[in-house]
Order: sequence, then C-alpha cells, then structure tokens
Amino acid sequence: MGAFSLSQSKQWHYSSQIAPIPNNLSIKQEIRNFNFNPNPNQFIPISPQKTTRLPSLTLTNSSKNPNSPTSPPLVVVGSANADIYVEIDRLPKEGETISAKSGETLAGGKGANQAVCGSKLSYPTYFVGQVGEDAHGKLITEALKGGGVYLDYLRNVSGAPTGHAVVMLQSDGQNSIIIVGGANMNCWPQKICDEDLEVVKNAGIVLLQREIPDSVNIQVAKAARTAGVPVILDAGGMDAPLPRELLKFVDILSPNESELSRLTGMRTETFEQISQAVSKCYEMGVKQVLVKLGDKGSALFVEGEEPFKQAIISAPKVLDTTGAGDTFTAAFAVALVESKSKQECLKFAAAAASLCVQVKGAIPSMPNRESVLNLLQSP
Ligand SMILES: Nc1ncnc2c1ncn2[C@@H]1O[C@H](COP(=O)(O)OP(=O)(O)O)[C@@H](O)[C@H]1O
Ligand SMILES: [Mg+2]
Repeated sequence: MGAFSLSQSKQWHYSSQIAPIPNNLSIKQEIRNFNFNPNPNQFIPISPQKTTRLPSLTLTNSSKNPNSPTSPPLVVVGSANADIYVEIDRLPKEGETISAKSGETLAGGKGANQAVCGSKLSYPTYFVGQVGEDAHGKLITEALKGGGVYLDYLRNVSGAPTGHAVVMLQSDGQNSIIIVGGANMNCWPQKICDEDLEVVKNAGIVLLQREIPDSVNIQVAKAARTAGVPVILDAGGMDAPLPRELLKFVDILSPNESELSRLTGMRTETFEQISQAVSKCYEMGVKQVLVKLGDKGSALFVEGEEPFKQAIISAPKVLDTTGAGDTFTAAFAVALVESKSKQECLKFAAAAASLCVQVKGAIPSMPNRESVLNLLQSP
C-alpha cells in the first residue's frame, strides 16, 4: 500500500450557515437545514412547523404507520440478508462433512445495515426491500424493528427465500463466503410500484447499494432525481460494471479503495492514483465521489474542487471492521441531510465508523447519535 496520510483535524464545529448545496441537489435540500440548538453540542432535526415550505412532506400511505416522521426521512433501498457464520478449522474437502466449532446467524445485508445505522443515529429512516416468508425474514424484520427503522415498505415475497450468506470463518483467518441472492435479487416487480417511488420522492436523501438488481436502483434513483432528492450510491455489493443509466442519477458515488479500483480498472494504492481513478468516475457521469480508505480515512472528491480529506478518528482498540463502510456511508448521509458542511459530514461519518470498529458484528456495532457526538466533543 502506498504511503499517504490524511491530516487529522480535532475540531468539530457547527457552522451557522446553511451548507453549500451539493451538485444536482435541489432547493428542497437547501431548506432542509437544521434548527441549531442554542447548545451547539446537539443535533436537532428540523421541527415539523419549520417544514411548511417543503412540498408534500406527508407520505401518501403514512396512515399505515402512526409514528411516521415529520422530517424528510432517509430512505434506504437495498438488501437484507441473514449472515450464517460458521467457525471451522478448514474448508471441507469434496464429499466430506465436517463439524463447525460454532455457528451463529445474524441479520445483515448492506441495505439493512445502513438503514439501522441511520435510525440509530436518530434520523427517521425507512427501509425499502424484500425478504422471503421464512425464519430468516423474521430475524431481519426483528433486527430492523429493534433498530427503530420504519418498515412500511419492507415486503415479504413468497417466490424466493430471504437472501442469505454462509460465512466460513477459518482458523487461519481466511473467510470464504457463499451468497444466496434470494429475495434481494429476485421477485422485484419489473416496474417498481408507485407507493415505493412515492416514499423515495418524499425522502430527504436516498441511499442505495449494489446488492439488489441494477434495474431497481435505476428506477429509484431516477424517481429521486426527478423529485430533487439527492442519491448516494454505495458501490459495495455485486462486482459488475456500473450502468451509466444508474450513475447519471447518482449525486454521490461511494466506493472503498478496492471497489474504486475494480470499477475503474485503475490502481488505487496512492492518493494520486485514487485521484486519477476518481477522475475516471467523473467521466462515467458522477460528479462527487466519497472514497473510504480503511485506516487511512476517507476523502470526498467534488469535480472541479480540491478534495476534502478526513483522517480516521483513532479507535483505542479495533475489534472488528465489519460494517465500518456501511456505518460510514449511512452516517455521512445523515449529516448531509441535516445540512452539515462537507467536512462536517466526513468527520461525523469517521466518528461513527470509529465507534463501529470497536464492537463485534455489523448491526450490533452501529453507534447511537449520543456516542458519536460525545466522541466528536472529546479532546
Ligand atoms: N482501524 C480503524 N480505526 C478507525 N476508523 C476506521 C478504521 N478502519 C476503518 N475506519 C473507518 O471506517 C471507514 C470505512 O472503512 P473502510 O474499510 O474504508 O470501508 P469498507 O468497510 O467499505 O471497506 C473508514 O473511512 C474510516 O473512517
Ligand atoms: Mg475496507
């Protein structure tokens, strides 16, 4: 890995100005600013009375959920998965049956992870996705519910099992994974229903990943763009070229360094190489690229501007980095919909991800807002 480091700023501040509007974002986003609390240590989402300038904020079928949010929500459209972990000494040989040392099934999937993260950060969050009519579907539904995610648009489909993955953790530290796409990849209507597109159009921000069909993402991103709702696409998930038809409706593309390399066919070991790969993304049609660089931090590239860099917020102990990327992207989206500046969004996300790597698992490791703010305030 080439050596480069991003300087670590200790300052976390709240600007009293409305953050500049990212490219392609509408006025709808601009007025979704914060009520700044007199105590600047707290985020206070915009109050319902202050949202009267927004067009229709009431979700069409909000009657389904008496607790529907009044702030334009974060809407995550994506995958939900049951991750079946088995701890083994080695992989079985052909025809062989072996015993695992332990086994555990946890809710996961990038979509579900990011939805829980948004909700745990106290931002009203809807999850739009599909599970099968099986025990894994129940497990995921409970995990999302437990995380406080609005589930009005989580569908149970009868034609496919809930998406699941068998994660074989081997003694030598290697992981081998088999994924069953199930309801994440199948049984989507060819044309996404108006109800689902309505929640997307009324969102404050939409978050997508690549664990559901591109055709679904394209329809969602297009609906969001038409309504002036910003879209962040986390590049994690399937390793296939990104359709231009999708990229043209995406405001911010967020890959980690290896995803950036695969998507562009370029090396991403040094900051210079990363910048060049990002330029390729601009050519592919996206104007902002949020690159996650593991323990090297992150950077937001905006076409025509100097990159905004963010070092990691160092963790006293790094226990498990699973879900760090999902936490980072979701936390960034939350700060952005709350009209934070780009640098503040990066720092908020870095703090959330730093807390995430200190706890085992994906969903269990996602921090709440209070702990993120405490970390940002700490000397
Ligand atoms: N060892 C670490 N200590 C603190 N923060 C970390 C560490 N590793 C990752 N992070 C944070 O998590 C973010 C996402 O992690 P990264 O590995 O880049 O994503 P992904 O999980 O998609 O590969 C990083 O940008 C960084 O802010
Ligand atoms: Mg990584």
